Amino acid sequence: MPASTILLLESDPSVDEFIADILTGAGYKVTRTVDPDEALHGASDHQLLIIDVASGPRSAIEICAQIRSTPALAQVPVMCVSASDDVEERIRFLEAGADDVMARPFDARELHARVEALLLRFQRSKDLAPVLSGDGMTVGRARRSVAVYSPKGGVGTTTIATNIAVAAALKRPDRVVLIDLALQFGGVATHLNLRPRQTLADLVRDDAAMREPELMRGYAVRHDSGLHVLAAPAGPEAAETISAAHVARILATALEGYDLVVVDAGSALDERVLTLFEAADTVILPVYAEIAALKAMHALLEYLSETGSVGLKSMFVLNNPFAREILKLRDVESALGSKVAFELPYDPFLYLKAVNEGIPIVVGAVRSAPAERLVRLSASAFGEDGVVAAPVAAEPKKSGGLFRRRR
Ligand SMILES: Nc1ncnc2c1ncn2[C@@H]1O[C@H](COP(=O)(O)OP(=O)(O)O)[C@@H](O)[C@H]1O
Ligand SMILES: [Mg+2]
Repeated sequence: MPASTILLLESDPSVDEFIADILTGAGYKVTRTVDPDEALHGASDHQLLIIDVASGPRSAIEICAQIRSTPALAQVPVMCVSASDDVEERIRFLEAGADDVMARPFDARELHARVEALLLRFQRSKDLAPVLSGDGMTVGRARRSVAVYSPKGGVGTTTIATNIAVAAALKRPDRVVLIDLALQFGGVATHLNLRPRQTLADLVRDDAAMREPELMRGYAVRHDSGLHVLAAPAGPEAAETISAAHVARILATALEGYDLVVVDAGSALDERVLTLFEAADTVILPVYAEIAALKAMHALLEYLSETGSVGLKSMFVLNNPFAREILKLRDVESALGSKVAFELPYDPFLYLKAVNEGIPIVVGAVRSAPAERLVRLSASAFGEDGVVAAPVAAEPKKSGGLFRRRR
């Protein structure tokens, strides 16, 4: 493969050789310019544009917004360099359409890793054929159903499912449904402070509603955000009345009645969940950096690679529900044999407050770093940001370094 070409727009190249040096040293072909118009014209000939502009007639945010309003440049990833780690500044960059933001000061390895990840994600999204909408316009690869599953509980499955669903519903009120298929002890209603009068156990007894989108909507409870929720049965006994065939039916009808479907698939593995994996467009697999959790995920991947149902549509999300992380992202990725698509920061307060009050972070703490990440994860999972997650390796590494050491 030829070396990736990177276009670097700088305001003052004499001050900062750092970025170009690192990237050239890592084997990229780097073109440098100080002229924003030259960057606009040249961007489509490169695989990545880095905007490192601290001064000059146009701000980095303006340049970024200009690029994002140019349809021909939609496929070029843009990374912005911010002067500090200020959340507000990062959010402004992301809102202007940046695909990643590097905050100063950073080290060479971080820059290299982020550039690699961005190139990989965009390459993948190009590899996937675009889908045509009814009027013949290219709308990108449509992904309308997202399942969230972890072989271990307490990893943040419900937190992720509720937040990405609410984030999507805020953009499309009454067009998004969250289905709580963590059947035995589903927690979605608690996370959203909802008191459903009817649950999936009632829905599956109503043949007509199982087939008619409009009737199915009658079984959903509406959240203030505009999200509809099909709640889990009240307990394990009622959960047994729901079969794998029901799951397939519910998903098919939900996709007729709503634009987007999110499923909290919980942590049990059975026919119903396998059916869901088969049917969903994206499967989010949260993990955390702990040996037992990684082993459970590894075992799941081995199992799924035999049954062949997840493959390209998986997205690993590294969650940090504990203060101390001992394993690094690198270790996690080598244990999984796959890239992590997103990382959610640890927060000692926000997540717990959200569950206790039943107000998800994307509503209750809009400007926080976790909310910002969860909103991005939502868009990414539905393929709405042009970014496609790193897929699970077809064959998970059986003797990944981490596991070999532990044996
Ligand atoms: N990144 C994080 N930082 C701090 N606490 C978190 C984080 N992610 C999740 N939590 C907390 O961990 C607990 C378990 O999360 P939950 O989403 O219910 O997990 P699961 O559905 O996988 O069992 C909740 O109290 C949640 O608030
Ligand atoms: Mg849960």
